[in-house]
Amino acid sequence: MDCSNTSCQTKKKCDELHSAKHVQYIIDHGNNQEDFEYCMTQFLRMSGVYWGVTALELLNEISNLNKESIIKFIKECQSKDGGISASKGHDPHILYTLSAVQILCIYDSLDEIDVDSIVKYVASLQQPDGSFFGDKWGEVDTRFSFCAVAILTLLKRLHCINVPKAVEFVLSCCNSDGGFGSKPNAESHAGLIYCCVGFLSITKQLHRLDSEKLAWWLCERQLSNGGLNGRPEKLSDVCYSWWVLASLSILGRLHWIDGEKLKEFILSCQDSEVGGFSDRSGNLPDVFHTIFGLGALSLLGHPNLSKINPTFCMPQYVLDRLNINPQTICA
Ligand code: FPP
Ligand code: ZN
Repeated sequence: MDCSNTSCQTKKKCDELHSAKHVQYIIDHGNNQEDFEYCMTQFLRMSGVYWGVTALELLNEISNLNKESIIKFIKECQSKDGGISASKGHDPHILYTLSAVQILCIYDSLDEIDVDSIVKYVASLQQPDGSFFGDKWGEVDTRFSFCAVAILTLLKRLHCINVPKAVEFVLSCCNSDGGFGSKPNAESHAGLIYCCVGFLSITKQLHRLDSEKLAWWLCERQLSNGGLNGRPEKLSDVCYSWWVLASLSILGRLHWIDGEKLKEFILSCQDSEVGGFSDRSGNLPDVFHTIFGLGALSLLGHPNLSKINPTFCMPQYVLDRLNINPQTICA
């Protein structure tokens, strides 16, 4: 093939993953504590660290982060009731507790934290109908059901909650279109479908789904620009490449969407100057869209990225090391 003409060279440039730029972007993001964005994201810092650590691990560059200071930060964020917060001095929440446990698993450092109190905290959030509160304030959401079973499975303590009740609650959030929402009768949404499919994969209950109907709903999220949206009538957004693709991957139907067009869309959302991915081309990058862009590219088999697990959104080798095998449907 003749690659000397300009359009071919431009296309080659767009096809490239700017790995070195992304590594630098993530390192700079963690280091620059004077940065406006760094200050404004204090309320979700623990998840930000998980996104950065996981992204660097996919790029095989995790050694660029200071493991000791990250573990120290996690310890400082654990409260007396066992839960972990986004930042020191904030209230604990199940979302940040999951991020902290994921980081500790990646670093093979669970022995650095009081695991029993985390288990107690998570179990204390389960309600009589099987659902989970996110924290002491009492909001219920299927995201929190996912977090609970993901944390307890990583800690090898899934038996410490009422799993059958938790499953009944999640199944009660399934809609007639095959999708899931945040609670019973709430609109289907790809982010929450990921949580519910991930939940059923961890609890090994995928056979309770109408997986064909759900996979149709998911593959209808692909728009003509190749990108995926989270609900009908919404714009495509890089993070939905993850929520939708990970769900399809667990359901064994990743090939139902056009992977090449999706890859082009995701790569077009890279910032080729400062690194990182944005929600859509031309917008400012952030760490959230960076991990989910890289995660989706890994699911699509990008050769420069290590393999990610679709249920836990963690490097596959970490789950292999822990001997954790969430259920998937064979294609
Ligand atoms: C979209 O949110 C995404 C979701 C609702 C899913 C969030 C999933 C978790 C918190 C579980 C933990 C996740 C991982 C990867 C381990 P949004 O508020 O951006 O939705 P919008 O696009 O409708 O605003
Ligand atoms: Zn997004």
